[in-house]
Amino acid sequence: MAVSGADVQHAKKLLCSGKLVAIPTETVYGLAGNALNPRAVATIYEVKNRPSFNPLIIHTDSLKKVANYVASVPPLAQKLADKFWPGPLTILLPKTDALPDIVTASSERVAVRVPQHSLTLSLLKELDFPLAAPSANPFGYISPTQAAHVEAQLGDKISYILDGGSCSVGIESTIVGIEDNRVEVYRWGGISLEDLTAVVPNVQTYSNQLEESPSAPGMLKSHYAPSKKIIIGNLAELLRQYHHSEVGIISFSDFFPQIPKNRQCVLSASGNLNEAAQRLFSSLRHLDRPYIKVILSEFVPNYGLGRAINDRLARASA
Ligand code: TXA
Ligand code: MG
Repeated sequence: MAVSGADVQHAKKLLCSGKLVAIPTETVYGLAGNALNPRAVATIYEVKNRPSFNPLIIHTDSLKKVANYVASVPPLAQKLADKFWPGPLTILLPKTDALPDIVTASSERVAVRVPQHSLTLSLLKELDFPLAAPSANPFGYISPTQAAHVEAQLGDKISYILDGGSCSVGIESTIVGIEDNRVEVYRWGGISLEDLTAVVPNVQTYSNQLEESPSAPGMLKSHYAPSKKIIIGNLAELLRQYHHSEVGIISFSDFFPQIPKNRQCVLSASGNLNEAAQRLFSSLRHLDRPYIKVILSEFVPNYGLGRAINDRLARASA
């Protein structure tokens, strides 16, 4: 069992000595280690059972602090950082040798983010190194949005969980790269297409293509999956096909009275996509139980955070 608490100084001490600490962010909990310490970073891959070709995001409390680790910040990246940081946006920038290759799995670009969470921001302010942090789940499983989720899966492998409550966004960051005067989206997350296009006109999506040939390697098709089979379609129809004693359902806003409450999760009764995103991963976890054989779900409207929700649902069912 890991110790949980809100002790930033304790977290700092552990991180400075090369240990790993789970940290809260607005998106999901991260499994953090000193990005400048190759041994600490190697332990992150080990604890997550993550393939070594899958690079990690580095986190700091300001763009200024990443200056040592990136060769340049294109004006468009500066604009996005000004607008969305701290927040759920990760930007790929050209890396310098100051950052160990193991962080980026030898890629020439490093993924950088300033997370929006008071506890983690105060921790990052205290550190003179960035934190490499993937989501704090075993490779291929759903990301944790509460300290208890981290404890359940990685509790025996890490020293401390900085408990910052439930993640407010609940879905990982949007990942973008900058090419010429374009923003290229590799993963939809907490910043929506509508958010981006309000700031930059030229936004291009690559997230689907990456499923086939990942240059952002983590964009593998079957990802973010619970151990149950997930089937996505029209819920009313699916409920006619499956025996009610074997299903769990995740609906966007409808409650199905014929299904017991302990077998269903309504993402947002009022049809709010932000609330739905916030609840998605904990709902998938909630239904990942012995008495449920198959999880039935449906896509949500494909705008705002709906794009990211649908992306995760599709991957979880792949
Ligand atoms: O919201 C988030 O982004 C959370 C919190 C903890 O910040 N982190 C997170 O990390 O989701 P992770 O490792 O679970 O997902 C990061 C994704 C991976 O799919 C990885 O392949 C991709 O970002 N990535 C990281 N560095 C990259 C790089 N240099 N080039 C291309 N893709 C990169
Ligand atoms: Mg992850």
